[in-house]
Amino acid sequence: MRPKILLTGGSGQVGYELIQTLSPLAEVHAIDIQDVDLSDTLALEHFVRNHNPIDLIVHPAAFTAVDLAEEQPELVRAVNTDSSRVLAEEAVRRNIPMIYYSTDYVFDGSRSFNLRYNEDDRTSPLSVYGLTKRDGETAVRTICKKHCILRLCWVYGLRGQNFFQTMLRLYHQGTTPNVVHDQIGAPTWSRVIAMTTAIIVPKILNAPREERWGFPWGTYHICASGVASWHDFATAIFVEMNRQTGHNIELPKPISSSEYPVKAIRPKNSRLDNTKLEKILNLKLPDWQTQLAWCLDAIKNK
Ligand SMILES: NC(=O)c1ccc[n+]([C@@H]2O[C@H](COP(=O)([O-])OP(=O)(O)OC[C@H]3O[C@@H](n4cnc5c(N)ncnc54)[C@H](OP(=O)(O)O)[C@@H]3O)[C@@H](O)[C@H]2O)c1
Repeated sequence: MRPKILLTGGSGQVGYELIQTLSPLAEVHAIDIQDVDLSDTLALEHFVRNHNPIDLIVHPAAFTAVDLAEEQPELVRAVNTDSSRVLAEEAVRRNIPMIYYSTDYVFDGSRSFNLRYNEDDRTSPLSVYGLTKRDGETAVRTICKKHCILRLCWVYGLRGQNFFQTMLRLYHQGTTPNVVHDQIGAPTWSRVIAMTTAIIVPKILNAPREERWGFPWGTYHICASGVASWHDFATAIFVEMNRQTGHNIELPKPISSSEYPVKAIRPKNSRLDNTKLEKILNLKLPDWQTQLAWCLDAIKNK
């Protein structure tokens, strides 16, 4: 019998890619706001309680509009924290594992630019989004022992609104953007995150039930190797597009964060250390330049 996965946020950047990579491994039931609104805790409780069977819960859905989140903290808490608590409780009730996606925004990013954050570093979110995702982590970690919390950084992809799509749109308009150069991280393609998850999931599902306790549950950082500023990332997109099209659109100009005011404070240093993923799960992600080249190829072949 094929295992059954309940997947939230199937229309999101990561959720959509997860449907593609997990479907060969399991029967994936992807749900979205039309099925159940995650901000309605009682409706979610009722929905999952009556959903049968489930062998694994995969939970990437979240309120991810970080600036808007500052204006609607209660709603964001319901979607990011409370839904994660409800799903973790249901996982425990059924004795099944759960995967939760979290973010670099759980850190304040004040660390020196040559250093990265590892899984055990103290969290100290600067925004409503970061705080509610951190509290979602805490709920999952506390309630459901059999959890994988996968912390991501600077996700982009072929779907949804993301920095990569914005840069492509500006490029095609012939507009040269000003882009911040004093925030650093590692742009990670949503498809690579989904492929990495698809390597982790069989390790969880294929183990005999009693051995699942032997899986190295816990928190893992999953992001591209290497480091970039938003300006580096934007420049790489423009350079590659100029090469592909033969045009010569002027490259993005660097500005500081103070020249680009936004509602939510972003971490300056979003570098996540992948060492635990490499050592314990034997997984190494490609660098961000390689992932960008793959993603641009995927657009050409779409
Ligand atoms: N994007 C990043 O740079 C980034 C970085 C680090 C970590 N993460 C984490 O990675 C995960 C996936 O991110 P993503 O970029 O794929 O997010 P996304 O594209 O914004 O997708 C979020 C998904 O959640 C769904 N959702 C939001 N509110 C909902 C509600 N009230 N009820 C039901 N569904 C709801 C959305 O549905 P609709 O489309 O219908 O709104 C969408 O399917 C999230 O947990 C996020 O916190 C993201």
